[in-house]
Amino acid sequence: MKKLACFFVYVFVCMGMGAQAQTAHKLKPKLPAGSKAISPHLFGIFFEDINYAADGGLYAELIQNRSFEYTASDNREWHPLTAWRFTTEGFGYGTITIETNSPLHANNPHYAVLNVEDEGREGVGLTNTGFDGIAVKGGEQYDFSVFIKQLTDNSFPVTVYLKSRKGKLSNEATFNTQGKDWKKYTAALTATETNDSAMLVIVAKTKGKLALDMISLFPKKTFRNRPNGLRADLAQTIADLQPKFMRFPGGCLVHGDGLGNIYQWKNTIGPVEQRITQRNIWNYHQSVGLGYFEYFQFCEDIGAKPLPVVAAGVSCQNSGGTWRIGGTGQKGFTPDEMKAYIQDILDLIEYANGAPTTTWGAKRAAAGHPEPFKLEYIGIGNEDKITPVFKERFKMIYDVVRAQHPEITIIGTTGPFHSGEDYDLGWQFANEIKVDMVDEHYYEKPEWFINNLKRYDTYARSASKVYVGEYAAHDAGRKNTLRSALAEALYMTSLERNGDVVSFASYAPLLGRRGHTQWNPNLIYFTGTQICPTINYYVQKLFANNDGDIYYSNIVTAHVPDTAKTFAASCVKDSKTGDIILRIVNRDSVPVPAKINLGSLGGLQSTAVVTTLSGDPMAENRCGDAQNIIPQTSNISIGKSFSYQAPANSLSVIRIQSRAKVKKQHVEKK
Ligand code: AHR
Repeated sequence: MKKLACFFVYVFVCMGMGAQAQTAHKLKPKLPAGSKAISPHLFGIFFEDINYAADGGLYAELIQNRSFEYTASDNREWHPLTAWRFTTEGFGYGTITIETNSPLHANNPHYAVLNVEDEGREGVGLTNTGFDGIAVKGGEQYDFSVFIKQLTDNSFPVTVYLKSRKGKLSNEATFNTQGKDWKKYTAALTATETNDSAMLVIVAKTKGKLALDMISLFPKKTFRNRPNGLRADLAQTIADLQPKFMRFPGGCLVHGDGLGNIYQWKNTIGPVEQRITQRNIWNYHQSVGLGYFEYFQFCEDIGAKPLPVVAAGVSCQNSGGTWRIGGTGQKGFTPDEMKAYIQDILDLIEYANGAPTTTWGAKRAAAGHPEPFKLEYIGIGNEDKITPVFKERFKMIYDVVRAQHPEITIIGTTGPFHSGEDYDLGWQFANEIKVDMVDEHYYEKPEWFINNLKRYDTYARSASKVYVGEYAAHDAGRKNTLRSALAEALYMTSLERNGDVVSFASYAPLLGRRGHTQWNPNLIYFTGTQICPTINYYVQKLFANNDGDIYYSNIVTAHVPDTAKTFAASCVKDSKTGDIILRIVNRDSVPVPAKINLGSLGGLQSTAVVTTLSGDPMAENRCGDAQNIIPQTSNISIGKSFSYQAPANSLSVIRIQSRAKVKKQHVEKK
C-alpha cells in the first residue's frame, strides 16, 4: 500500500546542477536555466598493448616474431625462433642459427642465418605460424617482404607461399637475391581460400648461406589502406565507437617493469626495421611496429584527439613483482637522465605539432605527415605511487612543459584506486602545483558504481578537472554481463551530469585477444578472424555516438519510488546539430515508467529514434552468436511532455532531432 501511495512521487534523476560557471570548457553565452556546458569530448578510448592488443591484435602484421628478437625475458618459454619452424621439405637439409655479428641495424640485433647444405626438391628455410595461425581470406592479397643478405657469393632463388596443414594456400612467389648487403625484397601473395590457421613458408633453393630478417606479411587491405597499417575489421570496430579522444600507449606499459623498461617513444618511430623492440610488461613482446606515428595517425583517422601518456621519470612501483625475482619497485631517473628524458618529452610535442622545418617535425613529415597532429593533451605518469621520488620528477617535467607549452593540457595521476593514500596524496599534490587535470582509475564491482553515482557531484569545480582514465564494472567471474554494462551506463549518466568537472572518461582495457588475455573483462574481444564486441562495448558506443556539450537537469523523472540505485537518466544537447539526447538506464527487473518534460527545449521534431539495449542481466555476448544483446532501434512519436516505459534491465537512448537541422537537410537535398 505504501508503495502504491508513493507511485506518483517523481524521483528526480537529473539533480539540479544549475548553470554553474566553469572555465575549462567553452562557455556558450546565455545558456537556459537548468543547463550547463559540459565537456564535448567526454567519451573516448584507452588503448594499451595488453592482451595482445597491438602485436597479434590491432597491428596488422601477420608474422609473429618477424625480427627474431623474442627472448626469455619477454616470456620464460620464448627464444629468437619462437613461432618459427625450420623447414626442410623435399629431402633438403642444412642448419638455422641466430646471429648478431652484422645486423640490418644496430637497433635490431638478431637475424636468422640459413645454411643450405642440400636444397632437396623443395628448398630449405623457415615457416612462421603467426599468432595462433595466420588468418587469410580467399581471393585477398597479402604483401610479403624480407631483408636478405647473401653470406656466400652465389645468388639464391627464394620462394615464398602460404600453406595450411593440407597444402598450399597461395601462389608461389620467387625472387633472386642480389649481393652481400642487406636488401629488401617484396612479393604479393593471393590466398586461394579462406583459412584461419595458415602458415608462411620462405625457402632458399640452392646451396649456400644467407641471412634473413624482418620477414613480414600484411594484408593489402589495412584500415584506410595505410602501409604498416592496422587490422581493418578491428580498427573499424574501434572507429565505430566514435571516440572523442584516444589515450595511449598505456597503462602500466608506460612506466614499465624497471627503469630500463619505461616506454620510450623515440624507439617507436622511423623505418620499422630500425625501431627498438622490447619486452612487454604483460609478459610478451612489443615489436613497436604500432608506434607513435601510427598511434597519431590512427587518432586522426578516427577523429579522436590524441592523448599520449609518458612515464613521470619513474618505473612502476610493482616492478620486478609477480614471477620475477629481485624486484626493483619504483625507481627514478637520475638528474642527468631526467634532463635527457624531459628533452624527449619536448621533442614528442615537437614531433606532433612542430613545423616540418623543426628537427622532430621533419621526422613526422618524412614519415608522410607534414601537417601537425594537433596534440593538445599529455598525460604524465600512470597510477604511480605518490612518493617524493615521483613528485620531484613529475614536477621537473611539469614545470618545463608548462613553461614551454602553455597550450598543452597536462594530466597528472592519482594512483591506482578511487580512494586511499595515493589518491589523497595525488590530489593534494595536484592542488598544490595546480595540475590542469588528473587521471583517476577504478575497477570495481557493479555495486560500487551504483553506490557512487554522486561521486563527482561534490568535486570542487575550480580545482583540477578529472579524467576517468580507466574504469570498468567487474562482475563475478570478471564477465562482461549486461548487469555490469548497465552499472557502467548508470555511472556514465553521472559523468555527464558532472561533465563540467569530468572532462574525459575511458573504459579499460579496450582489447583482448581470446586465449591471450592477461586481464579481464575487456571491451572488445577478438580472434584472428572474429571481432566480438561485448555488451559494455555497446554501452560505450551508444553514449559516444550520441554525446552532447550542454547538460539539462530535471528533464527525465522516474515514476516509481526507490529507484536511486536502479534508475538514472541524463539529457544533453549536441550544439552542432541542435539534437537533444536522453539516456535512460533501468537496472530493475521490471519496466519503469518515466516522464520526460521537454517544455524548456524548443524547436524539436515530434518523432524520436529510440535505441535500446536490454535482456537477461546475466547474459554475455559470445562471438558471432545470434542471441547476443545488441542495440535495437525504433521510432516513437513524442510531445513536449511524454511518457516512456524503460524496459527491464535496459539502456535506452532517445535522440530527438532539431527541426532546424531536418529543414536544412531537406533544403540541401533539393
Ligand atoms: O588496464 C589494465 C591496467 O590496469 C593498466 O595497465 C593499469 O594502468 C591498470 O592497473
